[in-house]
Formats: sequence, C-alpha cells, structure tokens
Amino acid sequence: MEEKITLIINGQERTTTTDPRRPLLEVLREDFHLTGTKFGCGEGQCRACTVLIDGKRASSCVTPVGTVRNKAITTIEGLGAGSSLHPVQEAFVAEGAPQCGYCTPGMVLGAVALLVENPHPTELEIKQLMNGHLCRCGGYPKIIKAIQRAAGTATR
Ligand code: FES
Ligand code: FES
Repeated sequence: MEEKITLIINGQERTTTTDPRRPLLEVLREDFHLTGTKFGCGEGQCRACTVLIDGKRASSCVTPVGTVRNKAITTIEGLGAGSSLHPVQEAFVAEGAPQCGYCTPGMVLGAVALLVENPHPTELEIKQLMNGHLCRCGGYPKIIKAIQRAAGTATR
C-alpha cells in the first residue's frame, strides 16, 4: 500500500507517495530524477548505488525507502558546494580515476565515508574499506591513488 514518505535528500525535504518497500535507489532515480546514483546489480553486491545515510555508506538498491524517512540522505548530486567539486571528486579527476564512470558516484561516496571514519588510511586500509565497490573497468589502482590524494597520504 502506498504511503506519503518524506525524505531529506541533499539537505532538502522531499516527499513522495509510494510503497515503503520500494528500493531507495528506484525512488531517487525515478521519483526525484537523481540519476547520479547508479543501478548495477540490484542485489547489494556491487555498491554502484551507494549513498550516504546519516553519513554512513549504504547500498540504496537494498534499502527500502520506508526505512529512511527523515534521515539525511546524500547522493552524488549533493556533494561539493555550488559549482565547486568536493575534494574527493577533485582527487578522482586529478588522478583520472573514472574510465566509463559508472562506478564513480558510488566510489566517491564510499571514499567520503571512509575518510570521515579514517582520515589517514594506509593503502591496505583503503583496499579493505573499499572492498565490495566493483569497477568493471578495473580502474582500482587509480581509484586508490585518488583516495590517497584526497587523504593527503599519496607517497609521490
Ligand atoms: S546496484 Fe546496489 S549494490 Fe549493486
Ligand atoms: S570506471 Fe567503469 S566501472 Fe569503474
């Protein structure tokens, strides 16, 4: 049964009337046209659909929208300020980390969450904490370098 559901997306209150069991990913993309959040596997296995919920990384494809009422949801569209990129986005650009770019929004949001938890991660910690974010282009070395750059821990 449909219900009126209020979400806080990128700092703005947004309301939709829908089945609370619908995946947050679908609601973001179809109801609010926030298509930066990507559909990959739809089963919680690839993290292409990563968003932040109250600052924590979450796979929106397996998050029922009814469970995140009034929680702060951040999508890739909500990073940065105005026309300025977020430092993690700048680092991804600087390192040429996006290839096709499909995994990039999820990677960037995952990296943002990682760096809040651990501002100066080692390479091993980056690999461990980003485990589960799949890149079909195999761009992992540049993604790791971008996260190191954003953290200020790059060795070069
Ligand atoms: S699309 Fe959500 S984890 Fe793959
Ligand atoms: S850049 Fe293509 S999937 Fe990662």
